[in-house]
Amino acid sequence: MASAAEVLPSDIARQVIAPESYAEWNALLNTFDRLREEAPVAKVVAEDDSFEPFWLITRYDDVMRISKDNTRFLNNPKPVVFATRQATEFSRAATGSNMLVDSLVVFDAPIHPKYRKLTQDWFMPRNLKLIEGEIRRLADKLVQSMIDDGPEVDFVKRVAAPMPLHVIMQILGIPEEDEPKMLMLTQQMFGGQDADLSGSGMENMTAEQITQLVAGAVKNFEDYFAGIAAERRANPTDDVASVIANAKVDGEPLPDRDMAGYYIIMAAAGHDTTSATMSGAMLALARDPGEFAKVKADRSLLPGLVEEAIRWTTAVQHFMRTAAEDVEMGGQQIKAGDWMMLNYVSANHDPAQFDRPREFDASRTPNRHMAFGAGAHQCLGLHLARLQIRILFEALLDRLEEVELAGEPARSSSTFVGGLKTLPLRIQVK
Ligand code: HEM
Repeated sequence: MASAAEVLPSDIARQVIAPESYAEWNALLNTFDRLREEAPVAKVVAEDDSFEPFWLITRYDDVMRISKDNTRFLNNPKPVVFATRQATEFSRAATGSNMLVDSLVVFDAPIHPKYRKLTQDWFMPRNLKLIEGEIRRLADKLVQSMIDDGPEVDFVKRVAAPMPLHVIMQILGIPEEDEPKMLMLTQQMFGGQDADLSGSGMENMTAEQITQLVAGAVKNFEDYFAGIAAERRANPTDDVASVIANAKVDGEPLPDRDMAGYYIIMAAAGHDTTSATMSGAMLALARDPGEFAKVKADRSLLPGLVEEAIRWTTAVQHFMRTAAEDVEMGGQQIKAGDWMMLNYVSANHDPAQFDRPREFDASRTPNRHMAFGAGAHQCLGLHLARLQIRILFEALLDRLEEVELAGEPARSSSTFVGGLKTLPLRIQVK
């Protein structure tokens, strides 16, 4: 598939970088199947030079190797999420950085571990136990209100979108009345490539206009969180917002921009990802009544269901790295400074790692998926995500007798965080 010069044909390059192709899931998976076989490490080059060429990494083993080697493969200085040259230029002009927000995902050692340590304990299972009861009450409430509105409901709107949003906002100490504003801002940042999600008619905008809109969202976030931080310094509580507001690194408080970046990465990373995974699992169960009945009857399968939901959905579709030195991989010579895309969607569908990878199987063991990444940057919120998904499915399996699709679900158009934007269901309760 790749020529002697290792460059992928332009139709494949377009498929990898076009947000719309992530809404055409099966076609995308077909392409990744071919790439893993024929060109597992291959160059993606824009015909019009609109983005810096990068190496597309599609095999599980290669994605894992890069993720775990945080010395040879860096998150800085190139953008850590795929961006066009124009978007990167604009970001640099607006903020002085390649990324609109400087946060954990942008830092490398020695700064990264110092920043990560500040909140890592907070997100450990023993601490999350303290909020488990609250999460369960929320899940029960949302499931009940969905049932009250049934039998036909949009699962995304009724349950999957509001639940993780509310949880992460509580953790960040954001009052409930500000949640819609936070949702809008994160969707402008993350769902910015999808017109329905950004709610701003982006389909007719130029790349620069879109980037400006996203930059506006970032600025709004920064202003908002500056207010929260000031309040938490005056009146510290035991939430994450207080931890960040009062944190010191090398004896100094965090600079305002880094503090805002910290809040933003958690506000943004903490809900769309988890929502997409909840909807992904529900889609799989709605399509396969046998699987639904199996897990309903045997709750020991629940942890497996959660893990499979996370793999099968792969809500975070990629992250980028920059090679710090020359390295050989998949028969290709990667040079120091080269940009690389770790494609988690492809890695999580690699048949060398997963039998029948497109099948949803709650009893899949082992299930060492790459959906949370690996190495120094492995998802900080993975225990929180698992906990919420488990609690939600406990509530759903308790209450629902049957569930089926009531229409065609739609995936969002996004290269980065993807998943369903609608999931019409017909539900049956006792
Ligand atoms: C199913 C839901 C989720 C998925 C699929 C997911 C996926 C990911 C991935 C792939 C990474 C990058 C890993 C790497 O570079 O190796 C990441 C990082 C991160 N995630 Fe998640 N995530 C989820 C939920 C959450 C939640 C609920 C939070 C809430 C705090 C969160 C916070 C973060 C943060 C702060 C980072 C950056 C960590 C670092 O760079 O050190 N994520 N996540």
